[in-house]
Amino acid sequence: MARRARPSVPGSPAPTGVARLPRGKVRPRRAFSVLVLSGPNLQLLGTREPEIYGKDTLADIHVRLAALAADRGATVDCRQSNHEGDLLDWLGAAPAQGFAGALLNGGAFTHTSLALYDAIRAIGLPVIEVHLSNPEAREAYRKESKLAPACVGKVVGFGADSYLLALRGLLDRLDAKR
Ligand code: DQA
Repeated sequence: MARRARPSVPGSPAPTGVARLPRGKVRPRRAFSVLVLSGPNLQLLGTREPEIYGKDTLADIHVRLAALAADRGATVDCRQSNHEGDLLDWLGAAPAQGFAGALLNGGAFTHTSLALYDAIRAIGLPVIEVHLSNPEAREAYRKESKLAPACVGKVVGFGADSYLLALRGLLDRLDAKR
């Protein structure tokens, strides 16, 4: 006799780490992998204008991101470059490498790079723009972001926590769309 699908019980979610399939079978949930990119001069965090960017180093931020990702059953791959081409290459390769989305602090490229805008549009992954400071509250030349129109959201002005908040937001969004 054919096995009958177990009825779903409202309010009793599948155990963490598995997704319910129609016939009562379970399959492991895919762990989301998030690419975290930081652009020019962000390797200097910790000593770079701490009154604006805070005292955390980029390595500190990466450790905190990895811990938050692990808590959420996800992983992060954190990279920094002063070269626009590296950021473009990493974004362009992200879908084929299985990344589910990205955080991008483009540094000063944020305000100039049509190429990064195009890359974000091209890959079709959700990308969140991140800034430690709030560029819109600073010099006039920082008010425009070339990247924002291609991103699903942005988090600015919370210092190192901007990265953490952005990761939470991205993982929530990815979870909601499973
Ligand atoms: C920044 C803001 C940019 O305007 C600036 O060029 C940076 C850092 C931030 O994180 O606040 O390099 O991206």
